[in-house]
Amino acid sequence: MSVAEAPGRSDHSGRGSAFSGATAGDELTIVEPLIFERSRPERRAVRFPAASEAARRAATAQPELPASVRRAAAPRLPEVSELELLRHYNRLAHLNHAIDLGFYPLGSCTMKYNPKVNEWSARLPGLAESHPLDPEPLSQGSLELMWLLAELLKEVSGFPAVSLQPAAGAHGELTGLLMARAFHRSNGEGEQRTKVLVPDSAHGTNPATATMVGYQAVTIRSNERGGIDLAELREALGPDVAALMITNPSTLGIFEDQIDQVVAAVREAGAIAYMDGANLNAILGRFRPGHAGFDVMHFNLHKTFSTPHGGGGPGAGPVGVSERLAPFLPTPIPTLVAGDPAVVRANAWAGHSTEGARFALDADRPHSIGKVRSCYGNFGMFVRAYTYIRSNGSEGLRTISNDAVLAANYLRVRLRDAYDLPYDRISKHEVVFSGRRQKREHGVTTLDIAKAILDHGIHPPTIYFPLIVEEALMVEPTETESLETLDTFVEVMEGIAALAASDPAAVKRAPTTTPVGRLDEAAAARRPDLRYAFDGDPAAGAAGTDMPASPAAPSEAPTA
Ligand SMILES: Cc1ncc(COP(=O)(O)O)c(C=O)c1O
Repeated sequence: MSVAEAPGRSDHSGRGSAFSGATAGDELTIVEPLIFERSRPERRAVRFPAASEAARRAATAQPELPASVRRAAAPRLPEVSELELLRHYNRLAHLNHAIDLGFYPLGSCTMKYNPKVNEWSARLPGLAESHPLDPEPLSQGSLELMWLLAELLKEVSGFPAVSLQPAAGAHGELTGLLMARAFHRSNGEGEQRTKVLVPDSAHGTNPATATMVGYQAVTIRSNERGGIDLAELREALGPDVAALMITNPSTLGIFEDQIDQVVAAVREAGAIAYMDGANLNAILGRFRPGHAGFDVMHFNLHKTFSTPHGGGGPGAGPVGVSERLAPFLPTPIPTLVAGDPAVVRANAWAGHSTEGARFALDADRPHSIGKVRSCYGNFGMFVRAYTYIRSNGSEGLRTISNDAVLAANYLRVRLRDAYDLPYDRISKHEVVFSGRRQKREHGVTTLDIAKAILDHGIHPPTIYFPLIVEEALMVEPTETESLETLDTFVEVMEGIAALAASDPAAVKRAPTTTPVGRLDEAAAARRPDLRYAFDGDPAAGAAGTDMPASPAAPSEAPTA
């Protein structure tokens, strides 16, 4: 069921308000007409001056477009004033939950607050207006910033070399495994090493990446404490294994306390030790994967260094590598070609550039796997991450991890009576509860609990992930939330657990205060009907716009 078809929220014509009518409960909902419904002929947000005579002459001098690609009629755009436009999109924006509006404990995603100073620096004209194809002499500031960020990432992770290029965490994984493959090929073992071992507590992108690169992903079970089963790992390691990809801390929020033995076993087998470092926010200043013997790790700048979550937009997932993988890094790499690195770094930390220092892009890397991203990556993200690291400093980064871990453990202890906790150990940045008791005893599922949380203005935790926890509720509070916010969350969660016992149907009715109730989320995401049917159009959702028709949202799809 699509948004337009949600019961009680639309007239089914495709012409109704995006969000109108009553929700499943009786609460008032926000009614915001579609922008087309606000449209009035000739109303304008902007009026352009008439074209000058010279412009008109220039236009008529152009060759005419062939009739086949010319519009027969003007596009039917909404005609609204600037104020109406502004209010409309502001109202819609307020229908979304956001970290700037409320608590967002979405485990694994680390919805941490993005400090506004990051945006300030990303907007500085010298950075914002630089172009990736500017010649090197004109790009010295941008190159310096990238070199310095890479230096900081080396310092944080303990790896001797870093590439900033990958555009997301999963893209960093791909880059890492492509380098692992290049390494094995360079040793004549490319054919023989066909498997990548992945613990069952890994992030889902790990086995997906291994498969994309052409490896067979082999699952290694966790032990009863949520760590890797060392015996099973040793048994699986052999001359056919290319790499181990371990998420550490894992998706259970647990630090792998046998990590030294894990890395030793992998290296002994001649395989590459890959650490998914997306959860580095939990261990900043406490554990350096490069020093622990890992060969490669990706950073998630959005999870650790507060760049915005891409949502499909630009992201960054740099990779750090050991000496033996460094030759295979993507090219080019921002490099310091004149100047003493120690002096340049020291000056930068003191707040100024170094006289005579010169930076360049090193593309002369014969063993490189090549480019994985156009130009040098998503530069705006580098500016934000650099700002975040510099504005916190090394002590600040340690405090971030301490606070993130403290907040997760506070919730672990406060909520472990209300919900089952399959792995009741000191956690790192996140804690995974189970709603299995509520399901077994009252028929209230984790999905019902998540929907009930929405009625309290809080974004639900991640649910049904990791897969090894039945009815999983994965909570990641992050370091920025106040004690009062955490206490409110505890009260909400305890309240829902109590309601599940006393009135399960009430939990199953949730949410009752949101603009729309329960949707078929898969259909809403995969088959959204976003077309507007104008007066005179044959049918809602059919012809009438320039967009191709797509299959109607199925009504048989189950609603959650
Ligand atoms: C542990 C872990 N690994 C990998 C990823 C994938 O990162 P991205 O979403 O940037 O591709 C994530 C994303 O949150 C993650 O939490």
